[in-house]
Amino acid sequence: MMERTLILIKPDGVERGLIGEILSRFERVGLKIIGMKMVWIDKEFSKKHYAAHVEKQFYKGLEAFIVSGPVVAMVLEGIEAVDLVRKLVGATEPKSSAPGTIRGDYAHHSYGYADKKGIAIRNLIHASGSKEDAKAEVALWFTAKELHSYTTVHEKHTL
Ligand code: CDP
Ligand code: MG
Repeated sequence: MMERTLILIKPDGVERGLIGEILSRFERVGLKIIGMKMVWIDKEFSKKHYAAHVEKQFYKGLEAFIVSGPVVAMVLEGIEAVDLVRKLVGATEPKSSAPGTIRGDYAHHSYGYADKKGIAIRNLIHASGSKEDAKAEVALWFTAKELHSYTTVHEKHTL
């Protein structure tokens, strides 16, 4: 039941000053932040993180975007954290993400990167899509030493 999942606040979220707002969504539901850092990745690392998408039509634009500025990477821990976080994050496309989700409240499109229509999704955040992906992504982004074990107030009050 206890799961770990990887979150990235993408360059658009960092540049728009939404780090605190996004972090607070996860804190509010009691998810535990067990690792966090700011990283500016390169194309090689992007290909590892987005290995499943490298062959897709949108990858070139996605890669240009994800290496365009620093991201905030974090590992969240909680009961059924993978699905819970995906629910808070919302659907991939701005038109499909429900109001109240992070993407639904803030995601938009922008011009400028190689996309078929000349527009690109700016959806602020990455979250692991499955337990298997989460395991691989946490290992890709964080060493064991960068992940911390501590007790939250929620746990202190319920133990
Ligand atoms: O991020 P999520 O798991 O919701 O979606 P994905 O299908 O795994 O795609 C990964 C990322 O690629 C998206 O979050 C978008 O940033 C980008 N993408 C895109 O730019 N254009 C698409 N048609 C699909 C995805
Ligand atoms: Mg995905």
